[in-house]
Amino acid sequence: MIGVLDRLARPFLRALDPEDAHGLAIKMLKFAPLPEAAPDDPRLASRVFGLNFPNPIGMAAGFDKNAEVPDALLRLGFGFVEVGTITPEPQPGNPRPRLFRLDADHGVINRLGFNSQGADAALRRLAARASAGGIVGINVGANKNSADRVADYVRLIERFAAVASYVTVNISSPNTPGLRNLQQAAVLDDLLARVVDARERVSPRSGPTPVLLKIAPDLALGDLDDVVGIARARRVDGMIVGNTTVTRPPTLHETETAKEAGGLSGRPLYRLGNRMLAETYVRVEDAFPLVGAGGIDSGATALGKIRAGASLIQLYSSLVFRGIGLIGEIKQTLLAALARDGHSNLKDYIGADAAAVTAEAWPD
Ligand SMILES: Cc1cc2nc3c(=O)[nH]c(=O)nc-3n(C[C@H](O)[C@H](O)[C@H](O)COP(=O)(O)O)c2cc1C
Repeated sequence: MIGVLDRLARPFLRALDPEDAHGLAIKMLKFAPLPEAAPDDPRLASRVFGLNFPNPIGMAAGFDKNAEVPDALLRLGFGFVEVGTITPEPQPGNPRPRLFRLDADHGVINRLGFNSQGADAALRRLAARASAGGIVGINVGANKNSADRVADYVRLIERFAAVASYVTVNISSPNTPGLRNLQQAAVLDDLLARVVDARERVSPRSGPTPVLLKIAPDLALGDLDDVVGIARARRVDGMIVGNTTVTRPPTLHETETAKEAGGLSGRPLYRLGNRMLAETYVRVEDAFPLVGAGGIDSGATALGKIRAGASLIQLYSSLVFRGIGLIGEIKQTLLAALARDGHSNLKDYIGADAAAVTAEAWPD
């Protein structure tokens, strides 16, 4: 039934303004009577930062910013869902239009700018489904006009630790001016010290909620050295590599749309995202696991992400072009690879190509 709905709805959604289509997709997920997802093959399961994932495929942040449909997304077959980015106070984000499809490139540019209903609304929804099971993490960010951005993150960790499976500290959106400055060494060290401390403070009541750090794929390698060093020293539980890119590969076909300001995602991000993931993997030295995101649009690119260093993967943009059948297709490809290579789970693939990827020419 999901497949039929998807096939019927997608051409219609693609004909709409991208943001209207997104709003409608959320509404459909809210009201469609989706059946429980079929149980996953146990060979796809893994334990990562203390959580048991039924499969490694996650819905990336930004689709369900306000935690409206996490359970519907789990029913589509995702192994986990990351809601958010949520900001402490509601804010409208940037003026429309602010979301663009690059059809010929299977890419997306967004400059939404953390449009958010705010923490209270998301907290209410997550609290209402807290006993429903399934892994639902929350991605948190600072308000645009916040006087103390670090305090925003601390407060959000304190509030969401009890109702989220994990919390992602998002300092990598290109659409909130100055946000990515939080990736600078001295600022990041202070931020991570305070968010990890906040997590410890609330853990007697909330449990040991993992804290992940989501970075931009646009960091210079020298800065990545610092970021990984600080993340290790401050003992974060994992990193997500990464967010959208402000770069524009010269290979893009949709050259006019490519001039829009914002973060590029989807297929054109795959090579850069994989390179940064591999560069991160070799620096982390197994201190914590990585989540790979950026341009996954097939079983092969999903496996490529795992081989570049990802214990888990996330996707968003390709759903626009490929639909939700992609989730099942990725699972089938991963299972076929396991059967072919005689492995009983995905562990042996994680990082298998990381060194080789870092030796390639820098992606355009
Ligand atoms: C429309 C849109 C909105 C997004 N919003 C967020 C967000 O709020 N927070 C965040 O951390 N990442 C956000 N992202 C980035 C995605 O989570 C993901 O890191 C990135 O798109 C790369 O994956 P993809 O190529 O599979 O889309 C957004 C991406 C898109 C396309």
